[in-house]
Amino acid sequence: MAATSLIDRAIAVLRLNDTGIFTKPGPHQYPHQWNWDSALIALGLSHFDLPRAQQEILSLLSGQWRDGMIPSVVYHSIPSDYFPNPEFWQIENSPSAPGVSTTGITQPPLLATVVQMMHTRHPMTDFVREVYPAILHWHRWLHTDRDADGSALACIIHPWESGTDDSPRWLHLFEAIRPEALPEFQRGDTRHVAAIERPNPRDYERFIYLIDVFRRLNYTPGELLKYSPFLAQDVLFNSILFRADEDLRALAKSIGEPTEEIDTWLNRMQPNFNARFWQEDIGLYYDYDMRTGKSIPINTASTFLPLFAGLPSKEQAQRLVEGHLLNPGEYAPNDSLRHWVTTTSQTEPTWEARRYWRGPAWVIMNWFIIEGLKRYSYDDLADTIRRDTVGLVETSGFREYYDARDGSGCGSTDFSWSAALAIELSQSSKSNP
Ligand code: DGY
Repeated sequence: MAATSLIDRAIAVLRLNDTGIFTKPGPHQYPHQWNWDSALIALGLSHFDLPRAQQEILSLLSGQWRDGMIPSVVYHSIPSDYFPNPEFWQIENSPSAPGVSTTGITQPPLLATVVQMMHTRHPMTDFVREVYPAILHWHRWLHTDRDADGSALACIIHPWESGTDDSPRWLHLFEAIRPEALPEFQRGDTRHVAAIERPNPRDYERFIYLIDVFRRLNYTPGELLKYSPFLAQDVLFNSILFRADEDLRALAKSIGEPTEEIDTWLNRMQPNFNARFWQEDIGLYYDYDMRTGKSIPINTASTFLPLFAGLPSKEQAQRLVEGHLLNPGEYAPNDSLRHWVTTTSQTEPTWEARRYWRGPAWVIMNWFIIEGLKRYSYDDLADTIRRDTVGLVETSGFREYYDARDGSGCGSTDFSWSAALAIELSQSSKSNP
């Protein structure tokens, strides 16, 4: 009964944010089409409106660059007060830019995984045939234009590409970036959400400085790898990419396409992933700063993303889960923190309860972790986190993120992926009681 009404409310949020062409991640703060939001929105929509879910994906693909990149945002000429606006990016100076307005950077490649999940549940061979070449093109771009060391691991050039913008894992890279001059800009985000819940001004200046560097380089991939002051191999991004490569391979097989190229990516990535990121001494995965050639010793929940991709061995998974996720000093609930899963370990001095990716619980992170735990047969823990997550949404509404101390909502209201994943998490419990 309660689950039915939660689903009805979730559907209402997705309808509220539906522009007819795409679904806004949030009604005020995020009025355009974001890449990984869109994938999850399609997953949510597929439970009750498959044609609309497919439309969501085609709208996102309309922003694909000629070189294969699927950008982090497609603007779709909807007027808004969102900053950075399309003009700020100056993508028209790149020969690869598409005919529509977009950003000049990408986001975690979740799309192949979502298409494969949809296809497994409701076979849609014609649609898979239609979108497969575009998704393959994106993955090829990630494994070439973003491969800086021949490892098949992809690099990110901006924290926005990680999807976890102000995560403390990027702070140390930011220390080395000294913007000599900043373009004029006016933030839009703090008009809609309390400043204490958004990235702090110092980080934001660096976000903007990086865009300025990229537009001066005309978004030329080789130049970006050479000169971007921010260049990292991200555990979260590469876990999602590895899983998406596996799912792309499954899609290829289902429509009779060759898989050799995808196999070479998977075969190179698997050993390189563990060699690069795994820290045997403490049992965590750390991101890697390509500019200094050093691991970034910051403990955040992205360390659990490899479980989603099946990358850890059984022993590694056990160390992650039993040594860290279940430790109340780091991630597990305790007297002051009542909810799963804080995005940064409480042991980090930069932990903050309500600031964006510095501490709050996010439905998307919980979903990745739940899926990862199921892959390693931690079914009871997966279900505990699933119930807690659905409870957060039930109690505090479809918020962008939640204060893990008391479950109160933060950031955008009526947030689309929280609605989409509430549907997903409620429905998946039916087949997995
Ligand atoms: C924002 O505007 O905060 C986004 O995260 C950037 O894509």
